[in-house]
Amino acid sequence: MSFHFDTLIDRRNTRSYKWDQREALFGNKDILPLWVADMDFPSPPAVQEVLKQRASLGAYGYAIREDSYFESIQNWFQRRHNWKLEKEWIVDSPSVVTTLSLAVELFSEPGAPVVLQSPVYYPFYDVITSNERTVATNPLVIRNGRFEMDFDHLETLFQGGAKLLLLCSPHNPGGRVWDREELVALGELCLRYGVIVVSDEIHCDLVFDGHQHTPFATLSPAIADITITALAATKTFNLPGLLTSFMVVSNKTLRSQLEKRLKTLSLHMAQHFAQDAVEAAYREGEEWLEAMLEYVKGNLDYALAYLEEHAPLIKPLKPDGTYLLWLDCRELGLDKNGLKDLMYKKAKVAFNEGSIFGSEGEGWLRMNLACPRYIVEQALAQFCEAAKG
Ligand SMILES: Cc1ncc(COP(=O)(O)O)c(C=O)c1O
Repeated sequence: MSFHFDTLIDRRNTRSYKWDQREALFGNKDILPLWVADMDFPSPPAVQEVLKQRASLGAYGYAIREDSYFESIQNWFQRRHNWKLEKEWIVDSPSVVTTLSLAVELFSEPGAPVVLQSPVYYPFYDVITSNERTVATNPLVIRNGRFEMDFDHLETLFQGGAKLLLLCSPHNPGGRVWDREELVALGELCLRYGVIVVSDEIHCDLVFDGHQHTPFATLSPAIADITITALAATKTFNLPGLLTSFMVVSNKTLRSQLEKRLKTLSLHMAQHFAQDAVEAAYREGEEWLEAMLEYVKGNLDYALAYLEEHAPLIKPLKPDGTYLLWLDCRELGLDKNGLKDLMYKKAKVAFNEGSIFGSEGEGWLRMNLACPRYIVEQALAQFCEAAKG
């Protein structure tokens, strides 16, 4: 089957977060948007079909969750990630960030340190600070052109009393797909200090050939016991607007607390459209996913080659996965406002400005590669031309 990744869906005036906020956020309604992490690709045909069918029903009442939904998740994770999930471990949550926030609320004390490894997806900070906890930062280090974890510094944070860690795996914005050995080292350290881990694995399916995602909870039964894994089909299949996700928690005590809190907030009901979409994606979306990853890899290769030739001062971190590219622009000598000016006013492109991912992200930009190749080409041409001065 062929898919149409080269064709742009015109999402202007569709209440699109990415396309319809350009004037408000960047001061220009014609700017090329390569920022927030949703794709400009159509979702798999089977997803579109099932949603059309649901919509044609005409009655959008309360819904239940059926076994086939859970089975589609179990089959996918067994097949793609060699992870055997028990049905009762799977708990729906409206979004991954909801799961992160609930875990912070339930498994840390007010004011307590909660660890993240920066730079990282910006809501990691928000869920800590809005729950009135303290961000304990373990900055990632760049070694051999990739992010690595600083275990010595991490241990000092655990010695200082941190009991909760938010892990981003694969990593946004750096695109690292953590090696098994690194994750084992992390898990052992967490076990030694009695630290609970919330592992955000929303990017787990977005991994390029030659790399393998390891679910943190599969490392050992002891590690599974301290882990809440936050997952969703939304990033993989471009469904984020459906607001649906799930967590996997094999530890019954942790799971019961999360379920209770979801119910207290009345976040436990099934969303009418989401289940159909998720089930169709997991059952019939694999071919689409493989084709999409190949297309994004083509965009990545293009971007790396173009930057090397036309903007050698900009140094990208080569990602192992995700559709995000983290660009080191520090040699341009611009502060964050300078970078915004360069993007929004001169180049007329919107990447994400790096400091929102933490102070370690200052001087960096994050580019979204999940769009037709010609948009990547146009955005890079405009950006590199503007960066020349
Ligand atoms: C690491 C990470 N977690 C969570 C999300 C968002 O998930 P949700 O929309 O389910 O909260 C994103 C979206 O970009 C992400 O990159």
